[in-house]
Amino acid sequence: MSKHYATLCVILNEVRDLSRMRVPNKLGDSSLIAQNDKKEMDIPVSVVIGTQWGDEGKGKIVDLLAEKSDYVVRFHGGNNAGHTVVVNNKKYPLHLIPSGVLHPKTNCVIANGVVIDLEVLVSEIKMLQNDGVKLNGRLFISERCHLILPYHKALDLAFENARGKDKLGTTARGIGPCYADKVSYNGIRIYELKDWELFVEKFTFQAKIKNEILKTFNVKAINVKEELAKISEFRKIVLPFVSDTFLLLQNAIDQKRTILLEGAHGVMLDIDFSPYPFSTGSNVITGAVNTGAGIPIQKISKVLGVVKAYTSRVGGGPLPTELTDSLGESIREKGQEFGTTTGRPRRVGWLDLEAVKFACQVSGATEIAITKIDILSGLEKIKVCAGYKLNGKFIPYSSCGYQELAKLTPVYKEFSGWKEDITNIKSFNDLPKNCQDYIKFIESFLGISIKLISTGPKREEYIKL
Ligand code: GDP
Ligand code: IMO
Ligand code: MG
Repeated sequence: MSKHYATLCVILNEVRDLSRMRVPNKLGDSSLIAQNDKKEMDIPVSVVIGTQWGDEGKGKIVDLLAEKSDYVVRFHGGNNAGHTVVVNNKKYPLHLIPSGVLHPKTNCVIANGVVIDLEVLVSEIKMLQNDGVKLNGRLFISERCHLILPYHKALDLAFENARGKDKLGTTARGIGPCYADKVSYNGIRIYELKDWELFVEKFTFQAKIKNEILKTFNVKAINVKEELAKISEFRKIVLPFVSDTFLLLQNAIDQKRTILLEGAHGVMLDIDFSPYPFSTGSNVITGAVNTGAGIPIQKISKVLGVVKAYTSRVGGGPLPTELTDSLGESIREKGQEFGTTTGRPRRVGWLDLEAVKFACQVSGATEIAITKIDILSGLEKIKVCAGYKLNGKFIPYSSCGYQELAKLTPVYKEFSGWKEDITNIKSFNDLPKNCQDYIKFIESFLGISIKLISTGPKREEYIKL
């Protein structure tokens, strides 16, 4: 027995040595692993993530990058997002269709993690088609997407009104109630929409229950017949775009096509990592690419964190660096900080790098795009929050709930401003020295390379580094 065991050990050791020879420690070209790694690296799947409270300028950045992308994919959220693209002096506010749509060769995917309001989708499709944008054969919508139905919007409003002075300030687009139905198995998807009888049955059942709930809020019930008539029309326009987006994207990965995933909102609104309940209904972080589009995270080669040069937030919830004075008012006016979706004035404040650092960590940002730096031109002094203090002690963003965030004191670093208009500058070295210092500080604080500086809303207004 022991002799056989010894022989077996020798054979096993030889096999191990052989396999070590095939895959040396220091990875060389001959290494199988190295070759596989290289193959992985060649597949350009990148993600754009908002690192603040939304409205960082993701739409502008995605449009810029989309020119070289085969696919641009929305993977979470719904029409609470408002992404602005400005091309040839025309402003396109996009809520559901990916911001790559204005590049005629780029395919646009609304993947399974997105929640869809058919009325908004149809009006966006029509708006683009009326403007000569062709969508046939390049817009793909997952049948796994859950539908935002009229009762979701009514419930969103009813809950907000019931909260009174403690309202959250949602976009009232039905996002929370729709995701709530999804996870409580009460959702209805595009899948059901394909089979009209099945849809009518499910919708009628859900609407009956939701109408009972609406009654308790003293809110008008949904008229099932009228709503079904509208949906049956929307359905005809949307269904031709429905397909298996999982398969589409897997094939794209196999064929080494470039895929750009367009994040919505901002990490500070992530359902898990925000100071809940001042949140949105979806995960905003990079991990949502896997659940929301079926793309494994190992395939992602780049995560671009979008950082607005100052802070804005729409709706309620703490905002540690908020400027409630006339300076805040003037930044809001100059930056045109009014909601793309709801038109509400956005609250503004100094750049909060403590929060942005957290957002970059949790989303694995590999590079940064700075936006709206032009809006800071003309300020005498510019402040940046470089840490939080609570009761005299430093506290990281991750340890704060909404009560701590409302109480803490931001620790600021102050910079001298610059007077020049920087909109048309094309090289970093041509930026005013104080502007360069501000940008360099952001880069060194985050420890992540800045690859893009946006200097205006138009497509061509940027500096590449
Ligand atoms: P998103 O939700 O992150 O896509 O951002 P929004 O589109 O809601 O808000 C950003 C606003 O700033 C839009 O009106 C953009 O056109 C505009 N914008 C984007 N980048 C810049 C920039 O670098 N400078 C200026 N002045 N405006 C910008
Ligand atoms: P983009 O993609 C800014 C905010 C709302 C509200 C909270 C919850 O344009 O950056 P919801 O309707 O999602 O249930 O509202 O989240 N919010 C956004 N704020 N930009 C967004 O998207 C937002 N999406 C949600 O204002 O405070
Ligand atoms: Mg927006």
